[in-house]
Amino acid sequence: MTNEKLLYIETFGCQMNVSDSEKIASLLKGLGYSSTDDSSRADLIILNTCSVRAKAEEKVYGHLGSFKGLKRERKGLLLGVGGCVAQQEGERLLKKVPWLDLVFGTHNLHLLPEMVQAAERGERRAEVQFIDSDTRLDLFPAGETEGGVTRFVTVMQGCDNFCSYCIVPYVRGREISRRSADILAEIRGAVAAGVKEVTLLGQNVNSYGIKTEGEISFAELLRQVAAIDGLERIRFTTSHPKDISPELIACFAELPKLCGYIHLPAQAGSDAVLSRMNRGYTRQQYLGMVADLKGARPDIQITGDIIVGFPGETDEDFEQTLSLVEEVDYADLFTFIYSVRPGTKAAELPGAVSRKEKQQRFDRLQEMLRIMTRRRNESFVGTRQKVLVEGVSKRGDQLFGRTDGNRVVNFSADPSLVGKIAEVAITFGYQNSLLGELFHD
Ligand code: 5AD
Ligand code: SF4
Repeated sequence: MTNEKLLYIETFGCQMNVSDSEKIASLLKGLGYSSTDDSSRADLIILNTCSVRAKAEEKVYGHLGSFKGLKRERKGLLLGVGGCVAQQEGERLLKKVPWLDLVFGTHNLHLLPEMVQAAERGERRAEVQFIDSDTRLDLFPAGETEGGVTRFVTVMQGCDNFCSYCIVPYVRGREISRRSADILAEIRGAVAAGVKEVTLLGQNVNSYGIKTEGEISFAELLRQVAAIDGLERIRFTTSHPKDISPELIACFAELPKLCGYIHLPAQAGSDAVLSRMNRGYTRQQYLGMVADLKGARPDIQITGDIIVGFPGETDEDFEQTLSLVEEVDYADLFTFIYSVRPGTKAAELPGAVSRKEKQQRFDRLQEMLRIMTRRRNESFVGTRQKVLVEGVSKRGDQLFGRTDGNRVVNFSADPSLVGKIAEVAITFGYQNSLLGELFHD
């Protein structure tokens, strides 16, 4: 085809961005763009950006700089920026980066085809206005992952929590839930196309439906999704501990399709820090929730996020974080050094922790994490796990998939198992994955 054009998307940050990138690829297919992994061959390069920490933001500028030469060499190459940095910077990005063609915010994906066509005619545009209607999430189509076994399905977007360190409420806007009928229809369609597992996605899925009159609760949504024939597994992310209801915890006992896995960010282990973070729960309440989750599903795998070096964090506060991490016994943990986000409440707080101190605390937590995850992965050796096979490894010699508890497993077997649930005997626990053998009775 002569008018076939190539699209290269680079995604930074969270799963919401990964999912948005899939949507962008679907949208631009309509203009004749197909995806490539090779930026040097692309006709359109899009950076889907994250501004949750300063480092992520700096990376974007670095990347834009590195594409300057390519833009000069390749006539007609278009360059766009989307996501949270685009939302924040808007027009300013076009001014700062003269070789940039388009900027689109987190609510403006649906304008992209029109903007790309304008850019093809030489028009530079930035679109970053928020849309506060509950139909917004259906303005853009579901993302497609070709031949995918698993699929992200957006159920809500935005955040109303205003944790004091976080830029998300400013760059993703207020919480909006998508209509359950549309979510269920999307999942039924995905299952008909061969998808076996869905991850319900949102900045704070637990508050799904609360603000929308007549809408069902998140727990009820899970029950209705679980009733879809042919769907094997359900996951969801991300959860805010303050919005975990007893009804939701009960779902882990009642719904076999709901995977025994939850990402439940604590952020800190000391009440003083949690309060300054505006998290809305205490250490005791968090630990109570963890106990209830383990009660509902004894083998549940819990992962979390921790920020070290929040303003005013003392040695004692940090010790409390370490002891919380130990007590929860996380399956995995995402650890972050606090990064000041201009415009947030925490940016005004006194008591900045020194760079050195932050790094030392981070290193201690990392060390603890290394031991914990290795120990946990080794504990699976000798067990039999149900693995949903997602594909063939890059080297082509093994299959890979995930356990119900979200551990990656590699094992040798026939590629015809892709898309099926295999019984795998675990033979080795690495730092970040498991090795197994197909189980034969
Ligand atoms: N500094 C460090 N980490 C942050 N996060 C969010 N904002 C900041 C910040 N300003 C972390 C939180 C959140 C994860 C996505 O990123 O732990 O859960
Ligand atoms: Fe940010 Fe808190 Fe909302 Fe998560 S819940 S996106 S940390 S404001």
